[in-house]
Amino acid sequence: ALISMRQMLDHAAEYGYGVPAFNVNNLEQMRAIMEAADATDSPVIVQASAGARKYAGAPFLRHLILAAVEEFPHIPVVMHQDHGTSPAVCQRSIQLGFSSVMMDGSLGEDGKTPTDYAYNVDVTRRAVDMAHACGVSVEGELGCLGSLETGMAGEEDGIGAEGKLGMEQLLTDPEEAAEFVKATHVDALAIAIGTSHGAYKFTQPPTGDTLSIQRIKEIHARIPDTHLVMHGSSSVPQEWLDVINQYGGQIPETYGVPVEEIVEGIKHGVRKVNIDTDLRLASTGAVRRFLAENPSEFDPRKFLKETVSAMRELCIARYEAFGTAGNA
Ligand code: G3H
Ligand code: 13P
Ligand code: ZN
Repeated sequence: ALISMRQMLDHAAEYGYGVPAFNVNNLEQMRAIMEAADATDSPVIVQASAGARKYAGAPFLRHLILAAVEEFPHIPVVMHQDHGTSPAVCQRSIQLGFSSVMMDGSLGEDGKTPTDYAYNVDVTRRAVDMAHACGVSVEGELGCLGSLETGMAGEEDGIGAEGKLGMEQLLTDPEEAAEFVKATHVDALAIAIGTSHGAYKFTQPPTGDTLSIQRIKEIHARIPDTHLVMHGSSSVPQEWLDVINQYGGQIPETYGVPVEEIVEGIKHGVRKVNIDTDLRLASTGAVRRFLAENPSEFDPRKFLKETVSAMRELCIARYEAFGTAGNA
């Protein structure tokens, strides 16, 4: 059944687990996520970005998610709009039947320019007023997502600050977070604690302090009733990079957020963990390998099936690691 994010994350907080929020653009991703959730008895958050709406169109995405609810009626599903850049964008998603929206007021409508605090409060409060009147949950964002190593937001997806960010933008301030939640009544808050979008998060192998766990603890202590959200949480599996590069790809050395650090964040209030890049890497690796090994095949279902199983295994691993499994 379709449920609100508030309802799902309240349960996650009570039982101390996190829920991966996977981005969806097509049938294969949707299938992989649902089959993994079914196999592990996990609740599901699927989210549609602006890029996904541009690729598939909002009606197709909506019906893809509704079809998942129909085929797997025993699994709770949140239909979430990722990175809305204005209250108007959120309003359209609410009208389409999304049960949750993100109003990302940390950046302007161009998705690139960092905004000031007053602007962020204003647009977020307007989105919350509208959404709550319809029983829809809202995620806000405070601080600018960016890698603590490189100071960069990541450039993969059209959402991210331009240029190098300063340390104070890269870590959400706990006092400001408390003020923000009080002023806007958001259900969940995306925080800047060292993650960035895309495959190029870190140039060096992780040494255990990729994220500022300390900052997560401080924010959680100030706003214990607000569910914390980690964007840019792909782990960039080295196995998939190897497969891609072995079969003709050219992806330079790069590292993501280790799963163990995300698990540590979940112990301190992180409830929603956004993952997109890992599914992209698994799909690409699976397609490249299949076509290289089966050069005479031309039925797309053959290689798309490979992407479903590659993504399904990845989703199962995250559901198990984050403690989501067994909570549907
Ligand atoms: O927030 C970023 C997600 O990775 C979505 O990226 O707009 O390319 O679909 P996208
Ligand atoms: P990744 O690029 O790390 O998968 O993050 C996705 C995300 O935060 C979507 O909002
Ligand atoms: Zn994001």
